[in-house]
Amino acid sequence: MRPLHLSAAQALARTRAQLADTSLLLAARPDMAALLLAGRVLSSERTPLRRLPPLGWVTAHAPTAREILKDYRHFTNLTEGGVGDLWAQVLGPWVLDMFDGPGHHDLRTRTRELFTEDSAAALVAEAWQDSFDAARRELVTGGTVDIAALSRMLVGRMMGALLGIDEVRHDSAAADELFATGERLAGLALDTGADTTLPEDRVAQAQEIVRQLTANVPAAFADPQPGTILERCARLGLGLRETTGLCALLMVAGTETSASAMARTVALLADTGDQHLLRRDRSLLPEAVREGLRVTTPAAVIGRGVSADVEIAGARMQAGERVMMLTWTANTRYGGFDLRRGYVPEVRQLWFGAGRHLCLGAPLARAEIAGLLTMLLDAAAEAGAPGWQIVERTPQRRVMIPGYQRLVVALA
Ligand code: HEM
Repeated sequence: MRPLHLSAAQALARTRAQLADTSLLLAARPDMAALLLAGRVLSSERTPLRRLPPLGWVTAHAPTAREILKDYRHFTNLTEGGVGDLWAQVLGPWVLDMFDGPGHHDLRTRTRELFTEDSAAALVAEAWQDSFDAARRELVTGGTVDIAALSRMLVGRMMGALLGIDEVRHDSAAADELFATGERLAGLALDTGADTTLPEDRVAQAQEIVRQLTANVPAAFADPQPGTILERCARLGLGLRETTGLCALLMVAGTETSASAMARTVALLADTGDQHLLRRDRSLLPEAVREGLRVTTPAAVIGRGVSADVEIAGARMQAGERVMMLTWTANTRYGGFDLRRGYVPEVRQLWFGAGRHLCLGAPLARAEIAGLLTMLLDAAAEAGAPGWQIVERTPQRRVMIPGYQRLVVALA
C-alpha cells in the first residue's frame, strides 16, 4: 500500500466522508451496525475469531474470512446462518443442491462465462445509454438528478434486460416496481443474522413476493430472447422451477447491492474530493470502482454453518455451529476511501465474497458503477464544470442493504 500524505483539511474531509457512509449502516440496521463497529475490536490479527453466543463465531479479519469462504469441506451456506437456508425455506428443499451441492458446481461451471468485463460493459451501454443521456442532459442544463433513485431504476431495468422481460426493460415505472418488490423480499430477512429460521407467516409472504417478482418468467422462458439468462438456462437444461428460482435469486442478489454501491461511490468521490483526481485522470476509474466497493461493502455480513469440525486461526469450530464474517469491518479496517490507496492484497475482493460462491455478477456490478461515474464525468466535462456536488441526501431506513433513499446531485 502506498503511504498517503494528506493535509489537515483533506484528512478532515475524508473522515467526514467515512462518517457519512457509516451513518447509512446505522440507519439501515442499527443492531447490525453496532456489531460491525464492535467487530473492529472483537476480531484482531491476534484473535481473528471470537465466539459470541448466541450469534456463534464472528470474524472481521479478511484473511480468515477468505479462508472460511474457500473451505467448502467444513463450511456450508445450507444450514442455519447461511443464505441457502433462507432460500430453501422460501423456494423449497430442491434449491439445496443448486445452492451448495453438486448442482451448484455444475451451474457455476456452465455459467462461468455469463458475465465477462467486456460483455458486462456492453450490457450496461445497451441497457442504460438512453437513461444516461437523459441524466447527463439534465445536469448539463443546470438541473439536478437523484442518483439514488436513478440507480434503483437502472438496476431494475438491467434485470429486465438480463431476463428478457420487455415490460421491465423499457418501462422505468415497472423497473422501480421490480426493485421495490425485491427490496421487500430482502426486507423479510431483516431480523435474521446468525439465526436464519423464518417464522411461517414470513415464509408465506416471501413466497407471494417471489410469485410477483417472477410472474413474467414462465412466458419469457417459453420463448427466451437470444442472449438472455433465460435462454442460457434453457440451454443448460434447467426446468421452469429452477429457472424461476434462479431469476428470483438474481433479482435480489443483483439489485440492492449494485444500487447501494453506485450511489455511495458517487457520494464518496464528492465528499473526499477525489472526483477531481478522477476528472484529471480517467484511467483511475477502475480504482474508483474498487475503492467504492471496498468502502461500501454492500453485503456487509456473510454467514456460514460449520458442517464438520475444523480448527481455523487457533479456533476450534464444531459441526452445527455458525460463523458470521463481518466483511464490511474487515474491508474498511484498511482505511477510508482514497483513490491513491492502491490494491489491498489482504482484502482482494472480499466485497464479492470468495471461493465457490464468489459473486456471479461481479463484472456486471463493476461495469454498472463505472457506467454511472462515466456519465457524471462526461456531464461535468460537457458543461466545463469542476465536478458534481451533493445538494440533498437522505439515508434509507430499515433496509437489508444500507444505501441512500435520495442522493440529489447537481454540477458544481
Ligand atoms: C455491488 C454489487 C454486488 C455485491 C457487493 C455483491 C456481493 C455478493 C457476495 C458477497 C456474494 C457471496 C455471498 C456468499 O458467499 O454467501 C454474492 C453472490 C452472488 N451474487 Fe453478487 N453482488 C453484487 C452484484 C451482483 C449482481 C449484479 C448479480 C447478478 C446480476 C449478482 C449475483 C450473485 C449471485 C447469483 C450470487 C450467488 C453465487 C453463488 O452462490 O454461487 N451479484 N454477491
